[in-house]
Amino acid sequence: MVAKNLLILGSTGSIGKSTLEVVDQHPGKFVVRGLAAFSNVELLVQQYHKYKPEALCLVNESKADDLKAALKGEEVKLMFGEQELINFTQFYYVDIVINAVVGAAGLLASLETVKQGRTLAVANKESLVCGGPLFPEILKKTKAKILPIDSEHSAIWQSALAGKENELKNVIITASGGPFRTLPKEQFRQITKAQALDHPTWKMGQKITIDSATLANKGLEVMEAVVLFNIPASKVKVVIHPQSIIHSMVEFNDSSVIAQLSNPDMKLPISYALFWPDRVESPFGALDFTKLPDLSFEEPDLDKFKALKLAFECAKTGGTAPAVFNAANEVAVDAFLKEKIRFTDITRCIDESLQKFNIVSAPNLFDILNADKEARLIAEELIGNQKC
Ligand SMILES: NC(=O)c1ccc[n+]([C@@H]2O[C@H](COP(=O)([O-])OP(=O)(O)OC[C@H]3O[C@@H](n4cnc5c(N)ncnc54)[C@H](OP(=O)(O)O)[C@@H]3O)[C@@H](O)[C@H]2O)c1
Repeated sequence: MVAKNLLILGSTGSIGKSTLEVVDQHPGKFVVRGLAAFSNVELLVQQYHKYKPEALCLVNESKADDLKAALKGEEVKLMFGEQELINFTQFYYVDIVINAVVGAAGLLASLETVKQGRTLAVANKESLVCGGPLFPEILKKTKAKILPIDSEHSAIWQSALAGKENELKNVIITASGGPFRTLPKEQFRQITKAQALDHPTWKMGQKITIDSATLANKGLEVMEAVVLFNIPASKVKVVIHPQSIIHSMVEFNDSSVIAQLSNPDMKLPISYALFWPDRVESPFGALDFTKLPDLSFEEPDLDKFKALKLAFECAKTGGTAPAVFNAANEVAVDAFLKEKIRFTDITRCIDESLQKFNIVSAPNLFDILNADKEARLIAEELIGNQKC
């Protein structure tokens, strides 16, 4: 295999670091052409010295001088700011752009990548959720490919290969249920930040860990699946599977169900996307069936985890509804992490923001960016007024 050229957006985060571990595991198979981060100059500089990419992008311009000083005399192109993150995706020779940015901040970079006809390996689910109505037309025009990195969508992608597109009945996304699966709803108001950040099966960035505790993450994944697999929301099901061994399943029209299993390790779906269409030997996620716990399944409790219920509704409504859901969630999670609101306020903030919003059913990019902006203002106001 000729070495693949990679551009990694969000290289300093959990997925970005795991991607670089996959690169380390396969010497000679990948060349890191560019790395981008928000503000973690120290780690970005360490990564630069290890991988010697030709370009670096730092979105937080207030840290530009720190990066310039740290790399004085080095032959590396430095780019700064939000617009440059978008331009970065056009970097001259790249096989795969990996978007591992957190939040809707990754939207324009994802769109630009596919507009250029480039292959996008996407962990940044928020960009698919918000930009959902825009991707089909661009993909039709440019024939760009989107390769999922989210473990659930990677599992669906792999399982779906067992049948034809028109034979697919349902996709079944599994969810661990998060740390509060068995906690009575009456105790949710007392949940602390530390408890919410203690996920039972996955080690991830802070925002997705909170999303996993409210099940907003599962909701985002439902909306992501609609976009990635071009299926109606009615074909996306969620089942709670606390052991996180089955990463998702596909049900075909003959009722056969095909699943993908492994130990929970994001390096496995990352490897699958980077090596696709090949599979390679991997030290990540191997299973010993004789040592597995019992695998169990249950229905999600949509009353206890209302964020998932709201997400199903947004997936069905489409248009700007998913962008509003996402923006309100991002603002509320940030406020919860700063200990300004309670755990239960996160879902309340999403709910009330959606109620206050006029959804545009066939939005263009302007409508989506506007919905994102407006929903943030509404959510901030709700939080400021302590209405959620
Ligand atoms: N972690 C997982 O296991 C996992 C699994 C499935 C899907 N995902 C998805 O993958 C994405 C990344 O998650 P993560 O857990 O890796 O997050 P994370 O650990 O918080 O890392 C986020 C990365 O994005 C960068 N970033 C933050 N704000 C940015 C902005 N405004 N513009 C550009 N870059 C920005 C950060 O840079 P700094 O470090 O400089 O702040 C960091 O490199 C999310 O969409 C998440 O839902 C994650």
